[in-house]
Amino acid sequence: MHSQAELDPYYLALSGMASEQTDGLTDTYCARCHTPIGVVSGEVPPVDGSDLSEIAKKGVQCDFCHSVTESDGTANAKFTLTPDGTKQGPFDDSRSPAHNTEYSELHTKAEFCGMCHDVNHLTNGLPLEATYTEWKNGPYAAQGIQCQDCHMTPGITGYQANPGKASGIGREREHIWTHFGVGGNVFMTEYLGSKTHAIMAVDRLQRAAQVEVVSGSSVVPGESYEFKVTIKNIGAGHYLPTGLTESRQMWLDITVTDGAGTEVYNSGALDEDGNIDTGAVVYHTILADAEGNPTEKVWEAQSILSDHRIPPKGEDIETHNFTMPEEVTLPVSITAILEYRSAPQELIDHLLGEEFEVPVVYMTQDSKTIGDEDKSIPGFQITFPVMLGLLLLLFSMRGNKK
Ligand code: HEC
Ligand code: HEC
Ligand code: HEC
Ligand code: HEC
Repeated sequence: MHSQAELDPYYLALSGMASEQTDGLTDTYCARCHTPIGVVSGEVPPVDGSDLSEIAKKGVQCDFCHSVTESDGTANAKFTLTPDGTKQGPFDDSRSPAHNTEYSELHTKAEFCGMCHDVNHLTNGLPLEATYTEWKNGPYAAQGIQCQDCHMTPGITGYQANPGKASGIGREREHIWTHFGVGGNVFMTEYLGSKTHAIMAVDRLQRAAQVEVVSGSSVVPGESYEFKVTIKNIGAGHYLPTGLTESRQMWLDITVTDGAGTEVYNSGALDEDGNIDTGAVVYHTILADAEGNPTEKVWEAQSILSDHRIPPKGEDIETHNFTMPEEVTLPVSITAILEYRSAPQELIDHLLGEEFEVPVVYMTQDSKTIGDEDKSIPGFQITFPVMLGLLLLLFSMRGNKK
């Protein structure tokens, strides 16, 4: 996604709209993160990319990242570029015939990523994206686990060495930082033609969370039935989801079926237009404009109306209840599937036209069967008398000793 940050049609559509509605106020603000070279070279505005040089079209690319010499702190792209041909990187002993090299501690730290992965509103400072801050205040930062450990190694949920050479003439090293730049974006990676990145994003999402159905009371036909589902963020170093969270969506698709295969409850299914049923709990943020109305237009945002997401190593518990039908056939089974997508289908229909289908990514699931206690009670019925018998025996033995 770094190499596509400027050409990404979702970005182009939204930044174009922002430019139009703010009379160009947002032009270099948005582009400083999406095409930093385009901004420092004065090729933005226009925001449609028509004046961009080939190198600026490559978005967040090699020369940009490896020419950053200083940072003025995190959020809103406070980088200093020194494009003098010297490449900044993590090694103090690398030599290249093509360019000078210099060791940069900044590149080895989350603060490097945090320059762009915290986005505050241009005029009112409202935190729109807070991936770096979420990480900084969480358990991974406390353990010294950087963004790079999960995003630039094969480990995904923690550091894993990737021995090799950074170039044909480079020396063999214990670890070479991978540069796939993968997060959760299956939608754009697939659309832009990289199956490799899409598959890696699916794998990453599937390792981020754990779901458990906690069965409730026993089933009584015609009565209310309650159960809980826990979702744990076990793999992401920040909130789940993170980043552009007014657009990202994570939710549970829950189905309860009885022994005859009849569906007795559902939450989180998609309707025929691809929208999530309105009763479902969606993990995301909702931004509000000056009137307090929900908006996806980040430039209009004045406050955060709601923020329902899962902190790193944290969990959320959803409680569901419904009336069990009179004619229910036992046993009843509950299946909860955790799903993710990069944007609501209706938002993309509106911004990009209806030919874009936002893929729904399966993350993980759990199931429980309730109402087959008849089968489980015999175990209890056998164990209980045996235990009682043993206890009585013990007491009688103590009695005998006296
Ligand atoms: C988003 C910023 C970013 C982009 C884009 C990027 N790099 Fe890197 N690169 C890094 C960081 C950060 C490290 C060091 C990570 C660490 O030490 O924790 C690194 C490490 C390296 C290294 C050191 C050897 C290694 O792999 O560990 C080389 C060489 C390198 N990058 C080359 C490239 C090339 C070539 C490209 C373009 C194809 C590129 N980088 C694009 C940020 C970037
Ligand atoms: C110059 C700003 C900049 C820097 C520095 C930067 N990024 Fe990014 N990053 C972006 C932008 C912009 C995107 C989104 C591109 C898009 O979706 O069109 C992005 C996307 C990503 C994604 C993909 C998100 C997804 O939804 O799949 C990951 C993962 C990521 N960055 C991690 C990192 C890490 C780790 C570092 C530090 C080594 C880093 N970035 C440094 C600007 C930056
Ligand atoms: C412990 C491992 C870990 C650490 C540390 C970590 N990440 Fe992630 N990251 C993940 C996983 C797993 C996902 C996929 C689940 C998700 O989307 O949140 C992810 C997703 C992302 C995404 C895509 C989010 C979305 O849904 O669009 C971005 C952007 C990102 N990470 C950036 C960062 C940055 C920047 C840092 C450091 C400040 C960082 N990550 C630290 C594991 C990690
Ligand atoms: C401080 C850096 C920064 C600024 C400023 C910024 N962005 Fe981004 N943008 C990012 C990062 C980082 C991501 C990736 C987050 C993620 O994957 O969830 C991103 C992702 C996006 C995406 C999602 C693309 C996709 O394919 O899912 C859109 C759209 C977007 N930005 C539009 C904008 C617009 C419009 C503006 C200006 C109003 C803007 N951005 C300003 C850093 C920035």
